[in-house]
Amino acid sequence: MKKLVILTGAGMSAESGISTFRDSGGLWERYPVEQVATPEGYAANPKLVIDFYNTRRKELLHVHPNEGHKLIASLEDFFDVTVITQNVDNLHERAGNKKVIHLHGELTKVTSSLQPNNPAYIKTLSPDEYEVKMGDVAPDGSQLRPFIVWFGEPVPMIEQAICHAEQADIFVIIGTSLNVYPAAGLLNYVPDSVPVYLIDPKEVTIHSTRHVHVIREKASNGMKELKNILLNNN
Ligand code: OAD
Repeated sequence: MKKLVILTGAGMSAESGISTFRDSGGLWERYPVEQVATPEGYAANPKLVIDFYNTRRKELLHVHPNEGHKLIASLEDFFDVTVITQNVDNLHERAGNKKVIHLHGELTKVTSSLQPNNPAYIKTLSPDEYEVKMGDVAPDGSQLRPFIVWFGEPVPMIEQAICHAEQADIFVIIGTSLNVYPAAGLLNYVPDSVPVYLIDPKEVTIHSTRHVHVIREKASNGMKELKNILLNNN
């Protein structure tokens, strides 16, 4: 089976009703990013940050994978599919994808404030635990924090993501403005001979001179078109 690697961003989940970050009316227009997505913001006002992610987490109870997520999952019948997502929702898993790498963390998990990347402290919440409170602590006694990679923090999953990008036979980018590194740099690891497709309803600036097949559509329609192309060419 050919190895299909798909990098997704917030636009992937837009048709499920989850806000993107940088579109007009996006999350970073409504919530200052430095307050809710940096270690400094968390240190200054942990309750604000915990509540922000509680709201995002509880949104998961009301949203569903869209047609785009489902089409990606359906490609597992034909390809060895790895999804590398910048999204912190769980919609790729719920659509049925087995290999999903979360570069920016996962809303369904919490961890220690002192050692966020220590696997011993990373805990998956059940839906009845989605409201994390001040005073809820990790086994090391520190406040439970969201398992989210904030700006300025290391991105531990990038090494694994790079390995997949290097081994891709086909590389696809869906619904990301490619503003945030290191995720935006993954394309640089994809071998030159590998076909690259990009699905986004708006123009995306790609910092690379390589040829990219652009499908100017939302994720669901774009994935319909891409599935036809992939099944006819491979
Ligand atoms: P952005 O909000 O920067 O970009 C969203 C992209 O999705 C844009 O290019 C839109 O045109 C596109 N889009 C909108 N609706 C779409 C649809 N229905 N189908 C397909 N595409 C659509 O989001 P990201 O690039 O994912 O990080 O942002 C990257 C990171 O920045 C996020 O993971 C988050 C944020 O700060 C952290 O929180 C650490």
